[in-house]
Amino acid sequence: MIILGVEFTAHTFGVGIVTDKGKVLANIYDSYTTDSGGMLPDDVVEHHKEVSEKILGRALQEAEVTWDDISIISYSAGPGLDPALWTGYEIVKKWSAEYAKKLVGINHPAAHLSIGKMWNKLQDPCYLYVSGVNTQVIVFEGDKYRVMGETLDIGLGNMLDKFGRTIGLGFPAGPKIEELALKGKYIALPYSVKGMDVSFSGILTKIQQLFAKGISKEDLCFSLQETCFAMATEVTERAMAHTNKKELVLVGGVGANKRFCSMLQQMCKDRGAVFCNVPMSLARDNGAMIAWEGYLRRNESGDIKVNSHWRIDEI
Ligand code: ATP
Ligand code: FE2
Repeated sequence: MIILGVEFTAHTFGVGIVTDKGKVLANIYDSYTTDSGGMLPDDVVEHHKEVSEKILGRALQEAEVTWDDISIISYSAGPGLDPALWTGYEIVKKWSAEYAKKLVGINHPAAHLSIGKMWNKLQDPCYLYVSGVNTQVIVFEGDKYRVMGETLDIGLGNMLDKFGRTIGLGFPAGPKIEELALKGKYIALPYSVKGMDVSFSGILTKIQQLFAKGISKEDLCFSLQETCFAMATEVTERAMAHTNKKELVLVGGVGANKRFCSMLQQMCKDRGAVFCNVPMSLARDNGAMIAWEGYLRRNESGDIKVNSHWRIDEI
């Protein structure tokens, strides 16, 4: 069976094509970016409309398949930006009608987790999902995803992007912050772990104040990474200890960060656990993960259209 997956919940429009054995035949995407400002919903909608046919064509070409080979179309039904979700849904509905393929609407965070588990051939991992909107430590227990800890306010990626906007880095800021951090030294920032949860908005306010006082971008980027990644590592370690998980997989765009990976790697090594991540093309928003989740859920999805507030623990 060959599955076509379509991602469009936020900045990225992507089409992935995978087999039922988990082989990625194509994973093509195009993301809305800016040089200095943030992400504007109207521009995201325009972006998705503009690139959709081109991305589809490139994916079919790269996978060397035609619509005749595709069994189902899987798409990201939510959560996400409402205007982006409806725009994407109209696009996949059109393809579904045109080529007579069943539509399977799936949960975007669940797709991030499933691709991480499949790619690394894991049994029963603890998931650390750190992207733009989300910062969650998740395990699967008793037929359900359980959120063991999460951000109480904004996601770590969004916090990095907001700080990046303050210092003029453009969107997304994560990779540029990682680069600047290489030349920075540590200054103390608030460390905000509350039970199993974390909070980033106070740190963001503090770091914006320090920037206004003239502290260097490099020092701020370094200290921001050290503090926030340590907070996430602390709650992840506690979740692993509590649930007795021996595998950790990091998914979501912030998972591209090398310093973050090395901190988590060290923590896992210290407790005799395995640390895994996925290549950036599968960690960030992409169509291949949507296709794989659609394959797993091919017999479940009803007529859900879109759901902009769909939480992982409803799965
Ligand atoms: P969600 O899954 O919550 O809907 P999303 O769709 O915005 O989030 P992703 O594509 O998974 O997310 O991740 C995007 C985020 O990853 C952005 O906030 C970006 O700044 C961050 N990011 C990308 N590369 C790096 C990096 N090297 N270091 C830190 N953060 C990074
Ligand atoms: Fe995502």
